[in-house]
Amino acid sequence: MLRILLAISNDKARSSFEMVLDNCPFNVSVIEAASMTKAMERFSEKGPFDLVLMLHNAEKMNSADFYLFAKDKSDNTNFFIVSDEKIESLPGMSGFNTDRKFNEVIPLSTSTSQLTQKIAEIFKDKSNLSFTYEEVDYKKVRTTYFLRFNKTLCDVYVQLSENKYVKILKKGDIYTRADIKKWSEKKMKYLYIENGDFEEFKEEYARTPFLVMDKDLTPQSAEEASLAAIELVHEIVKEIGVTEEVVNLVDYTVYQVESNLKKGSALEDLLSKMHDRKDYLNDHSYMVAYMSAQISEKMTWDTEEIRKKLATAAILHDITLDNPELAMAVDLGLPELQKFQAEDIQSYKKHPMEVAQLVRESDSEEIPPNVDEILLFHHENPEGSGFPKGLNADRIPALCAVFNVAHAFVNEMYRVDFDTTEIPHILMHLKKRFSTGQYLNAMIGLVESLDPMTNIINKVQS
Ligand SMILES: [Fe+2]
Ligand SMILES: [Fe+2]
Repeated sequence: MLRILLAISNDKARSSFEMVLDNCPFNVSVIEAASMTKAMERFSEKGPFDLVLMLHNAEKMNSADFYLFAKDKSDNTNFFIVSDEKIESLPGMSGFNTDRKFNEVIPLSTSTSQLTQKIAEIFKDKSNLSFTYEEVDYKKVRTTYFLRFNKTLCDVYVQLSENKYVKILKKGDIYTRADIKKWSEKKMKYLYIENGDFEEFKEEYARTPFLVMDKDLTPQSAEEASLAAIELVHEIVKEIGVTEEVVNLVDYTVYQVESNLKKGSALEDLLSKMHDRKDYLNDHSYMVAYMSAQISEKMTWDTEEIRKKLATAAILHDITLDNPELAMAVDLGLPELQKFQAEDIQSYKKHPMEVAQLVRESDSEEIPPNVDEILLFHHENPEGSGFPKGLNADRIPALCAVFNVAHAFVNEMYRVDFDTTEIPHILMHLKKRFSTGQYLNAMIGLVESLDPMTNIINKVQS
């Protein structure tokens, strides 16, 4: 048995190495660490390891620092540092290549088969075995990894017996969360893909942002993809801790608003355009709807009517926007924002006023009072640096505060690509910003809503 510490902070990068390790044709036991502190803890407590596999200079984890920490603690641990840089020239790293028998800087372009060969060498050395590693016809992929896509990138199989595989999806097929659940319930921990497809699958996996769907779908499959996207949002918010009751109420509210808006009205037109989208604008609106209704449940003044107001505001709040990249760049403060024209950003900043105005003008009975106010203030923030009014934490109405906390949380989840293990960090960061004025109670509501999830994460991580 080869004991490996996989110390990579980025969730997707770690998953693609897991895929390689899952397919090693010899016994490996893999311990994972997603931060420097965890890596140090695990190294000291769960060692000794035969191999540490890490990325050089990855976010939150510096491989040279970790190497220097680990070097003196164990004589037998080899390091594979994945990098295209010359790390031997870094302070303290000059002896890296010769410190241990198998220490190596692995180029980023190394294929699965090359990496497996290298790991096999350590295994052979440790167990005094000699064998040649041979490629297999099918490779394993954890069933849950398929949740990241809704359309298959290649043919997918289940394994019936050692040499018998049956194709269950062909390349390009659309599938839903329900399909994946069905397979997981049948205890199918792995699905299989052809060896020749593996490399591309692995790369695509690391590249695919969460919840982004294929844009060139036929209208019928676009409809299915749209449903699949909502299904995916459902699963995520339930995983986070939003109750079934809240999900149902929000879905019902959305349905009511949609079906009762006046046919041909500007709002109806914009809302139906929004639903044809399969991108950030539509998906994050749904998530804000669920999260704000969930936070509201923790407020002393909560009623079903109030949750409906929040859900209605959530699905309408960005309907006048048509550039998901720009919206996401502003919401998440991404560096890509620089590539947009000043006029585009200026006109973007008008959307809270525009949508509030549209709602005031519509005489729809389905839009309850106060929704326009939530819309108008949805980009205000506790620092008072938001727009359009720059309202500070004391002047923002309580209902708007709930909405804005939910929106900020959803943005943070996007930032970490829906890695739920990051929730404790996200809460720490948000608490610093929102534990003030009218935002305080909403922030407490958010923490309480996420309590079950945070407890699980803390247990798993300790
Ligand atoms: Fe917005
Ligand atoms: Fe938004």
